Amino acid sequence: KRSWAEPWKVKVVEPIKMTTIEERRRALKEAGYNTFLLRSEDVYIDLLTDSGTNAMSDWQWAGMMMGDEAYAGSRNFYNLESTIREYYGFRHIVPTHQGRGAEHLLSQIMIKPGDVVPGNMYFTTTRLHQELAGATFVDVIVDEAHNPADESLFKGNVDLNKMEDLIAKVGAKKIPYVCLAATVNMAGGQPVSMANARALRDLTAKHGIKIMMDATRAVENAYFIQQREAGYANKSVREILKEFCSYTDGCTMSGKKDPLVNIGGWLAINDETIFEEARNLVVVYEGLHTYGGMAGRDMEAMARGIVESVQDDHMRARVGQVEYLGNKLIDADVPIVRPIGGHAVYLDARAFYPQLTQDQFPAQTLAAALYEDSGVRAMERGIVSAGRDPKTGKHHYPKLELVRLTIPRRVYTQAHMDVTAESVIEVYENRKKATGLKMIYEPKYLRFFQARFEVL
Ligand code: F0G
Repeated sequence: KRSWAEPWKVKVVEPIKMTTIEERRRALKEAGYNTFLLRSEDVYIDLLTDSGTNAMSDWQWAGMMMGDEAYAGSRNFYNLESTIREYYGFRHIVPTHQGRGAEHLLSQIMIKPGDVVPGNMYFTTTRLHQELAGATFVDVIVDEAHNPADESLFKGNVDLNKMEDLIAKVGAKKIPYVCLAATVNMAGGQPVSMANARALRDLTAKHGIKIMMDATRAVENAYFIQQREAGYANKSVREILKEFCSYTDGCTMSGKKDPLVNIGGWLAINDETIFEEARNLVVVYEGLHTYGGMAGRDMEAMARGIVESVQDDHMRARVGQVEYLGNKLIDADVPIVRPIGGHAVYLDARAFYPQLTQDQFPAQTLAAALYEDSGVRAMERGIVSAGRDPKTGKHHYPKLELVRLTIPRRVYTQAHMDVTAESVIEVYENRKKATGLKMIYEPKYLRFFQARFEVL
């Protein structure tokens, strides 16, 4: 088998700072052991997130110069709209400043208090917007998704039996839509199969329930379908994406991931009435319906990024880099979520630290240890991210207690991945020394962003 390399070369570089272990210890303490509170300047390799951290191409940067900054009717909006129609296939587009802006509009428009919104695992901002609109979230993902060691190829799939049971229990009238995320971030970047999307369409159509996709990483999902699902090996990522979207009624989108930009998002919807409402509501919260919080140049960069994101060669390099890092860790017997996901490698913090209870925040502890060791910044995706049950006020105790090494698109080299793997292996070798953390400050909403901790 021959090696492949990225289908681009580097034109501009951004220097990064090297720090000493003493500096990192001080920075960690100041940040309350929360990697979100570190200054980016103090980070060597930043794997906090793939959100808005992408490197744009020269063609995208050229597009930035073509920004039409008119308040109304910017030509960049019309280009973005027609690009989304062409590649995703949805009829109507409402631009928003980022993904949660679209989630807010959708939740406010479609949810009535007392409703139930099923989803293939929760996402932090998505679930919060559903709850703020008065809904209860119900997890209908397949059981395998909750087991980091399970090697099933489509661990993002909806369990259709769970879905049917829910409809029987609460009635279709209480379910405004199913939220179908592709890929599933909190499960480890796991994909949904085409067959599952099709079957979900058949089931929900019988009950008049809409499917709203979280399309944030749907192009990565399409790549996995091409690689793993029978009948798709000879189809392009572009064709697969369009077919997948055709089984849904619309989407919320964080443009900061697949579309290779630093900011932006949209709500897409085929239904005329919902579109009318969204186009009206967007002016209250985001901006006029032809910019929704984005500058004209941002819309142009996103339109161009979409075209680049659906190229097979781009996706092979993108997901291939994530797999390269994951395979290095598997070879060193480090416990990670299997199979390796699309945008990140997830460390299984429970398996690292069996000596810690979940109340001692194993994943938070691991993310801090990794930063201390090498300046590599990762993100907690465990009990801190899961937050509290709004009804009981108790912690959610998610089965998955993970640390995410998230790979920005077109940003780091293979050597950066090697350095990261070596640091993770070092931290794994020192795993018995970990004593856990105590939370000393807890914000009310999305606490993982701003919570502070002390070493136990
Ligand atoms: N849906 C998914 C699956 C996401 O991963 C995100 C963001 C959002 C929605 C919200 O979009 O940030 O543009 O408002 N995920 C980032 C992450 C924050 O690091 O995974 P946003």
